[in-house]
Amino acid sequence: MRKILIGLATLAVLGLGAAWWITEPKTDHIARVFAIGDAKRGELVFNAGGCASCHTSPGQDNRLWLGGGMKFATEFGTFFAPNISPHVRDGIGGWSYEMFTNALQAGVSPDGSHYYPAFPYTTYVHMRPQDVSDLFAFMRTLPPAEGRAPPNQVKFPFDQRRALGFWKFLYLDTKQIANDPAKSAEWNRGRYLVEGLGHCAECHSARTALGGIDEAYRMAGGPNPDGKGTTPNLTPGSQAFAKWSKADIVELLTTGMTPDPDEVAGSMAEVVKNMSLLPKSDREAMAEYIKSLPAKASPPKK
Ligand code: HEC
Ligand code: HEC
Repeated sequence: MRKILIGLATLAVLGLGAAWWITEPKTDHIARVFAIGDAKRGELVFNAGGCASCHTSPGQDNRLWLGGGMKFATEFGTFFAPNISPHVRDGIGGWSYEMFTNALQAGVSPDGSHYYPAFPYTTYVHMRPQDVSDLFAFMRTLPPAEGRAPPNQVKFPFDQRRALGFWKFLYLDTKQIANDPAKSAEWNRGRYLVEGLGHCAECHSARTALGGIDEAYRMAGGPNPDGKGTTPNLTPGSQAFAKWSKADIVELLTTGMTPDPDEVAGSMAEVVKNMSLLPKSDREAMAEYIKSLPAKASPPKK
């Protein structure tokens, strides 16, 4: 009997230890560079990463006014994008480069807690170290915006940030995007822009019950963040999308016009605003990569 109790107690301690280890915020996978970034290059990274889509203060004409406050309603609760302007008190003006990389590439805040994946660090984790450094330099040049976003309204148990460690254990893939030498430089650039910066899969994929991307439907369409309907399947599994040429995709990312012709609306219109600011060669690279995606059936309608 005593042996069993000791055995059970040991298991409980091991279990707690494992839970503690799993949920502990981790940043060891981040590669950092130790030279000051290039702000001019960082502007391209900022646009490719679509930071303005979420962090520009609502109602602001200047998309570089990153005072935050935009609202994201999800089934887990309501999130507000924080102020990431260089304002020292209300934004991230007092942050070091290390704090910035921890947030962007590990979803870990300066006080050592987890961010919610409403902030797509699951994509930015794949960013090249030099790009993160350049982005940091660019963001330092932006206007400091006063004021803070309202606190998130998240329901129990999702309000327990520590528990997000389990979510990251399941869904945060920290592997870097390797260059595929069998493919062209254009394709590789496109893959990096689509998977490492553009976070296209965050909206164009179905999700599991726990809110992670369902790999079976990555890029095959998912719930529309604007509330109604679904986002389109971007693989040849969609008969309609299979007919799009590379030039059609480039046109959409430049002007927002589909071959129908129709103009995309809502959150995709915001994506187009960012993509239209990139060099044309980058939009062509993204189209090249998207045209190479394997066919996947669209997720079943819920
Ligand atoms: C889809 C919307 C979205 C996009 C795109 C986005 N963010 Fe965020 N970001 C958020 C949300 C929501 C949070 C807050 C998460 C939380 O409360 O846990 C956040 C948090 C942050 C934080 C932490 C700020 C703080 O005060 O703790 C930083 C830094 C940040 N984002 C930078 C960026 C950068 C840089 C980009 C572009 C490369 C970016 N974000 C793109 C939604 C977004
Ligand atoms: C914030 C969510 C979101 C993100 C991020 C996003 N999209 Fe979209 N996308 C949408 C929505 C919603 C639509 C449908 C818009 C409409 O019909 O008005 C759409 C439509 C499209 C279409 C038109 C397809 C068709 O069959 O009509 C293409 C192509 C597309 N997106 C490509 C991309 C690419 C490439 C990226 C990454 C750079 C991306 N999207 C990122 C939400 C998003």
